[in-house]
Amino acid sequence: MRNTRSSFLLGCVLLCSASLVYLGMNGIECPRKSHRYRWMELNLGSANQSLSLTEHFPEDTPLIFIGGFPRSGTTLMRVMLDAHNHVRCGEETRVIPRLLAMRATWSRSVKERIRLDEAGVTDQVLDSAVRAFLLEVIVGHGEPAPRLCNKDPFALKSLSYLSRIFPKAKFVLMLRDGRATVHSMISRKVTISGFDLSSYRDCLTKWSSAVETMFSQCQAAGETRCLPVRYEQLVLNTEEEMRKLLHFLELQWDPSVLHHEELIGKAGGVSLSKVERSTDQVMKPVNTDALSNWVGHIPSDVLSDMAEIAPMLARLGYDPHANPPDYTRPEPVASPSNFSESLKATDAPHPS
Ligand code: A3P
Repeated sequence: MRNTRSSFLLGCVLLCSASLVYLGMNGIECPRKSHRYRWMELNLGSANQSLSLTEHFPEDTPLIFIGGFPRSGTTLMRVMLDAHNHVRCGEETRVIPRLLAMRATWSRSVKERIRLDEAGVTDQVLDSAVRAFLLEVIVGHGEPAPRLCNKDPFALKSLSYLSRIFPKAKFVLMLRDGRATVHSMISRKVTISGFDLSSYRDCLTKWSSAVETMFSQCQAAGETRCLPVRYEQLVLNTEEEMRKLLHFLELQWDPSVLHHEELIGKAGGVSLSKVERSTDQVMKPVNTDALSNWVGHIPSDVLSDMAEIAPMLARLGYDPHANPPDYTRPEPVASPSNFSESLKATDAPHPS
């Protein structure tokens, strides 16, 4: 009996020692902490995963939203800001513009609005749910940082809505000569739903209309909330443009923004996507290679109708008949009042 008990105890001791040796050799792996958890640890001193983010990220969180028409330098802008030691943007989330587009449809029909109200699904309820969704995605998809930023080009089609649900958010709208943007889309086969990549005329018409939607909302938000940045100026006068941008965002000057390529893949630096179309280009230092690469590719009938096909070119200060314009001498962007004056002049009946 005594022998059996000692053998049992010896067995237990051997088993425990073997387990300890095994664990020691393989290391005890803790599950990887999520970005959201690390954000809470850093910013709140506690990391209770069950806390609601909106309790800690009130609606006056000073988020930064970067957007614009795809192929306008939106990725370059976000990697340059990612290089700033206080900012994290990260890769496109892709779900944010989709949710915003869906939200825009929910209250569009009067009948549907009445049904939702009747069910208690008021605008207030929907806005608070959208705000919570956006925050979860923005906080959770990348490293923690004092200022969080999002870059999903078409999210700025909902700029007015975003500025309402995040009253302290700031917006950076990338603008680029539409001829270059469309040439980039067509030559690289970047598909956007509804755009016919076999036609410069179709793409330029739709480019103009999409940019107008975003630009008008940017102007309506006002200069303290939305800054339009022209791609050509960003690559030609990089430091001047970045100083203006950081001032607008109320961020300290950080020279790292001029050398984003040195911070690619580094902790707290720039994280790049393996699948986004601009990754191979943003790995390079800021350069002027793509400024006029559209010249010679647009059919002549489209060039001669350019002012009518793409009225946003003139409104953004790009001469529609210069092939190419002198980008080193930018024309001013039309102010909202100038533009409405010019519209009135165009709309006025012509004397017979
Ligand atoms: P091209 O395709 O004409 O070359 P987006 O990221 O909004 O899709 O914009 C893509 C455009 O940004 C590309 O236009 C590319 O040249 C430009 N771009 C990306 N990285 C750049 C860099 N390091 N310097 C200058 N332009 C850059």
